[in-house]
Amino acid sequence: MPFAWKKILKKNNKTVKIPPERMPKHIAIIMDGNGRWAAQRGLPRTAGHHAGMAALRRTIRAANDLGIKVLTVYAFSTENWNRPAAEVDFLMRLPSEFLRTDLPELVAKNVKVMMSGSYEGLPQHTIEAVNEAINKTANNTGMILNFALNYGSRAEIVKAVREISQAVAAGSLQVDEINEEMISNHLYTAGLPDPDLLIRPSGEIRLSNFLLWQLAYAELWFVDIYWPDFTREHLLAAIEAFSQRDRRFGAIKL
Ligand code: IPE
Ligand code: IPE
Ligand code: MG
Repeated sequence: MPFAWKKILKKNNKTVKIPPERMPKHIAIIMDGNGRWAAQRGLPRTAGHHAGMAALRRTIRAANDLGIKVLTVYAFSTENWNRPAAEVDFLMRLPSEFLRTDLPELVAKNVKVMMSGSYEGLPQHTIEAVNEAINKTANNTGMILNFALNYGSRAEIVKAVREISQAVAAGSLQVDEINEEMISNHLYTAGLPDPDLLIRPSGEIRLSNFLLWQLAYAELWFVDIYWPDFTREHLLAAIEAFSQRDRRFGAIKL
């Protein structure tokens, strides 16, 4: 079993070996740049969002092939409601469109769909599509595909603070019992490990209210292409870079 303990990745005909302990378990992606991708081609922004869906499909397949445990994708932020109604309306139809074509493959591949975000304000048809995917994959044990939908990190932290405060006010929790684990457990991502690797295409070097608590020690990887152009090769490049990072978590090597 010469390679039983290593991941073999093929990149530009090159073989990259990554020891399993250097593979990211949880990858988070800010799927950004759809509008600019379309504008560059003289197309409407909606065409960019469609092309972004194809990039998502490619990325899910690649991450699953590589044995990634959790893939979180930022699909719609709490601030994206500030876009024109027609674009918001279009974006809200994408989950059902994507899942109508791709849910059977996700089910077949043992992928478990989750959602991180608020149901408040989402149209009923969006909720139904997401819930169908969650329910149909609830017992799956493979890769977790977590859609950050109507997600905002600050709103998520407010939610956690409120829930914990309510328990204190009701007398069922002491203030000094509040700890980091408890806060994590009140976030939408409760139960998931923190992301090890954050990927953001599009050229923007910011977090845009994404997983502020959970990314505390993530490795960040920015790539100067638009999301619709993101391929398996980019994912491999990010993972390879990640595998070479020295993660110290504030400590020093003796
Ligand atoms: C990401 O692409 C998709 C969403 C935010 C929903 P954008 O729509 O933000 O595309 P750009 O950043 O304007 O190019
Ligand atoms: C972040 O992208 C949100 C998603 C990709 C869903 P934005 O395009 O909304 O972020 P900003 O406005 O450039 O910061
Ligand atoms: Mg954007």
